[in-house]
Amino acid sequence: MTAPYLVELKNITKRFPGVVANDGVDFNVRKGEIHVLLGENGSGKSTLMSVLAGLYRPDKGEIVVDGTRRVFRSPRDAIKAGIGMIHQHFKLIDSLTVAENVILGDDSTPPVLRLQDIQRKLEELSKKYGLHINPSSMVWQLSLGEKQRVEIVKMLYRGSRVLVLDEPTAVLTPQETHELFHILREMAKAGRGIVLITHKMQEVMEIADRVTVLRRGKVVATLTREQINRRELAWLMVGRDVVIQYKKKGSPGNKKVLEVDNVHCLSDLGRPCLKGVSFTVHSGEIFGIAGVAGNGQRELAEVITGLRPVTGGKIMIDGIDTTGLSPRQIIDRRVAYVPDDRLGTGLVPGLSAVDNFMLKSYRQSVLRRGPLLNKRAAYQNSRELVKQFEIQISSLDAPVKLMSGGNLQRLLLAREITSEPLLLVAVYPIRGLDIKATQSVHNILLQQRDKGVAILLISEDLDELFKLSDRIGVIYDGRITGIMPAEMTDVEEVGLLMMGSAGTGEMAT
Ligand SMILES: Nc1ncnc2c1ncn2[C@@H]1O[C@H](COP(=O)(O)OP(=O)(O)O)[C@@H](O)[C@H]1O
Ligand SMILES: [Mg+2]
Repeated sequence: MTAPYLVELKNITKRFPGVVANDGVDFNVRKGEIHVLLGENGSGKSTLMSVLAGLYRPDKGEIVVDGTRRVFRSPRDAIKAGIGMIHQHFKLIDSLTVAENVILGDDSTPPVLRLQDIQRKLEELSKKYGLHINPSSMVWQLSLGEKQRVEIVKMLYRGSRVLVLDEPTAVLTPQETHELFHILREMAKAGRGIVLITHKMQEVMEIADRVTVLRRGKVVATLTREQINRRELAWLMVGRDVVIQYKKKGSPGNKKVLEVDNVHCLSDLGRPCLKGVSFTVHSGEIFGIAGVAGNGQRELAEVITGLRPVTGGKIMIDGIDTTGLSPRQIIDRRVAYVPDDRLGTGLVPGLSAVDNFMLKSYRQSVLRRGPLLNKRAAYQNSRELVKQFEIQISSLDAPVKLMSGGNLQRLLLAREITSEPLLLVAVYPIRGLDIKATQSVHNILLQQRDKGVAILLISEDLDELFKLSDRIGVIYDGRITGIMPAEMTDVEEVGLLMMGSAGTGEMAT
């Protein structure tokens, strides 16, 4: 039986200066299927789909739509051929309505079509696929999940038969992801072809009819649903076995290292941001904070590390009141900080690795000789850290901005950890890292935990939180909506708390 292909990519090669992003790739989409494109960061997924969507011209290879060879000179050509792509960053205009956004830039809609007719058609599509979109809502009023559904309805309206979604779940809560998957399923049932790009194994297991794995720009396998298993996929993706479970040694101590007591603070815009946050982190404990980004996580890390003023409540570190102390004074209380912007607050991009290491350790006596820094000791020390933390680096003197995300994160952790902290505050530590770098960062955190360091882990990745945390607290709209031992809760419960709707099962639409 020959399944009809909606589209086929044949032997696609796409080069960028210094890198072959796609190297002779074959990929196809069948009517009615959800085809997952899986691969680590940088494996070439977005590039391949941008070729399909007419954003890039391939250097080699061809695109076949319904059996006919096509050349796309622009996204418009691809859309005309029935291919729609929803990018990682939405391209909507906030000050317009949903319907206005849909017509914008769509030259196929005759100008005589009244907005009302368009609204009616959008309502139909929205109803048919359970998108819950009101065409007359202003875009600025919508949540990220809703904006994504507007992008979907836009493509449906333009008649896309193949829909490509580039890492659509990155911005969604578990419930929104669940809803999205339901919508994708419905669209596939109606005969469209769906391509879902992801680097999350979980999502493959949940939704894929077929999966194609890319590694370094090449297809390593295309598997059907029956052939899929987690371990095999992980192996295909990274080319080596992945140990997914971590082992923790012993249970947390009972010494309170961090006590946050009814803390309030303001946002950058001067509005109430933290609204009475309380929790405690013990020695040898990883306390995870779950939440959709933007609910006060960054501000929480900043009040603890002294970077943002507290407007109410109290923070104690190692039994001493640190409320209102300066960042320097708090560092001296042995607090280490891994912020979410590695190259902003964390490291100085233009300085070398040695200088970045020294930024924080210059006070340590080993590295000082009188008032002058001992350069030799500094280099010696840096070399040891580079080795111990497996940091790949061309030279200790090269500016760190040239390093990859994983290496930067290890550098930052190495520096923070050598200060022998009592408390480590880590914000989104694996953001943008691939499997291997993620694992190595996780191992570093667990080693620290086992050594007795209290760790506050702020993350948007539930998988990470569940693997590492001893307890999980959920933050929503500046409040902690629940604190649970990690083994006594699950993704569903945490997900609901993340949406501020504990236990009601209500979806925010
Ligand atoms: N516009 C571009 N210019 C130069 N290099 C690029 C560009 N887009 C992607 N690359 C490179 O191509 C490779 C594949 O990237 P990408 O397709 O974005 O991977 P993925 O989506 O799987 O993370 C990476 O090495 C990336 O750095
Ligand atoms: Mg990508």
